[in-house]
Amino acid sequence: MNLISKFAVGLIALPLLGFSANAADGVRIEHLGTNNTLVRVDGDAHYLMLPVQESYDDATVNVVVDGKLERTIYVRLAKSKVDYAVPLDLSPYKGHEVVLNIVTSQNRSTVREAKEDACWSNFQLIDTIDVANREKYRPAFHHTPIYGWMNDPNGMFYKDGEWHLYYQWNPYGSKWQNMTWGHSSSPDLVNWKHHPVAIEPNGLGSVFSGSSAIDTENSAGFGKDAVVSMYTSAGVSQAQSLAYSLDNGETFSIYPGNPVITLESEARDPNMFWNSDTKEWTLVLAHALDHEMLIFTSPDMKEWTLQSSFGKGLGAQDGVWECPDLFELPVDGTDRKKWVLLCNINPGGPFGGSGIQYFVGDFDGKTFTADKDADGNVPTKWLDYGKDNYAIVSWSDAPDNRRTTIGWMSNWQYAAEVPTKQFRSANTLPREISLFTGNDGQIYAASTPSPELSALRGPKIVDTKSFNVKGKGKTIALPTENDGVCEILMDVMPGKSDSVTLTFSNDSGEKSILTYAPQQETLSFDRRESGIVDFSQDFPAVTVAPTFNGGHTLPLRIFIDRASMEVFANDGKGVMTNLVFPTTPYTKLTVSAEGAGAKIKNLKIYSIKN
Ligand code: FRU
Repeated sequence: MNLISKFAVGLIALPLLGFSANAADGVRIEHLGTNNTLVRVDGDAHYLMLPVQESYDDATVNVVVDGKLERTIYVRLAKSKVDYAVPLDLSPYKGHEVVLNIVTSQNRSTVREAKEDACWSNFQLIDTIDVANREKYRPAFHHTPIYGWMNDPNGMFYKDGEWHLYYQWNPYGSKWQNMTWGHSSSPDLVNWKHHPVAIEPNGLGSVFSGSSAIDTENSAGFGKDAVVSMYTSAGVSQAQSLAYSLDNGETFSIYPGNPVITLESEARDPNMFWNSDTKEWTLVLAHALDHEMLIFTSPDMKEWTLQSSFGKGLGAQDGVWECPDLFELPVDGTDRKKWVLLCNINPGGPFGGSGIQYFVGDFDGKTFTADKDADGNVPTKWLDYGKDNYAIVSWSDAPDNRRTTIGWMSNWQYAAEVPTKQFRSANTLPREISLFTGNDGQIYAASTPSPELSALRGPKIVDTKSFNVKGKGKTIALPTENDGVCEILMDVMPGKSDSVTLTFSNDSGEKSILTYAPQQETLSFDRRESGIVDFSQDFPAVTVAPTFNGGHTLPLRIFIDRASMEVFANDGKGVMTNLVFPTTPYTKLTVSAEGAGAKIKNLKIYSIKN
């Protein structure tokens, strides 16, 4: 078990008929039939640990308190073995009768068979859960949930010096289910504090992704400076609902008039913001299966008017369109401004599965119009050329006109299979978006690590002015402490070489290979032999990013954090985020050049502060 009890609370189990002989103290089990069992909880323990077997189906767990249905959760209760346990917080029910009315899936033919399920003898009452960060692939400096499954970051806002981050969370297992808004906050985008659950599944469904805005004028009537969040209520259908917080995002009230937007087709991930040009609330909603984004406006966040739709037939049309974001940014640091529409799609990403496409264009408050290329087509552009950055959206109200974003560092192709247990998935490092003009005259988006991340730097392990490489190349030792987590900077001067290769490897021969091909103006990332790759046929891959640098010197900035590598080439113009699962950390970096010699300048390797 990953959540280890500090001490179990012993309670007297009543020896009544029908109760399994070996249930834990304080837990009484009563089998009602092949697929229906009651679990009674005695006493006042803080948590009931629910035993999970990941490969097994969800059981429906109805939490009944004093005879009233409190909530229903879905948990993969263990059948033949316990992979780990997840806590059900009993503290709100202290002093009350708690019974779990559990309906298991339909695979048991007799009650006797049902009684043999591993879960019944492994429920445990405890008062403290141990949330220490022990898992091998748990990142050292990326945001993760303490336990359980996480996907999209969403609902993020900045207020009173704190960056609030909400995320799609399953508190009852490390696979997708029970979608809830988890909550973390940070004063500096580096140190994250975990808060209690923000928004839980309710009568209209589970709580899918959405956004938050600060209502400075009290236009919704929830209160001045209320944090107003809109999310998708996902039940049998999808509708958009409001929740608001009067304590800076710590606790939320559900708006009784929900839902505020209904359609007769699948639509989700509402992203709303105050448009200071039109003085209206503006909302972009993913019309997922129709491959378009719907744009609405409102005076009060409650009554919304559909103004236009964007995207039919444009850009990458595979998969579903999800998690939009719309914002304006200066071009090339000048006064000229353009609008950017982020449009996450899955599948259909550049290297399979999930990916972030974006459109650059104009927005008049009602309609978004994408720029066209020289041939009159709307080009498909990607924000990240790795496989593991999805559902990226930005913080609202970020200071200094910053457009600070964060993405989910995984891919729907294999997110539920990656070799972690207590938690699944981390977020990317926070990144700042800016716009630049490419050689083709098109405007593109760059993303660079947020400036706050420099605070992560520990001692400089390597600091080299320059060296030449050719053939077999030169090998540099990577930091060993803290499982080799580090930040690497260098300028790659390709000279007349055909390519320059950076190989990150360990003693087991596992390696991740970056190759800069100046003539092609590309940087590739080969993770086919990076470590554990066999949990999904979609995991081994070579991803390729354009460098936008005319084949000249390529500045690189690379972050390695146990199970991830984030590569920022040419100041974030070519970015690749890829997961890697080396069985032991990479210990060396070998730099070589093919065809002719090349030069590496300004190589710096920083360890990361604890
Ligand atoms: C994107 C997504 C969203 C949805 C959420 C559900 O990864 O599919 O469209 O709101 O995940 O967890």
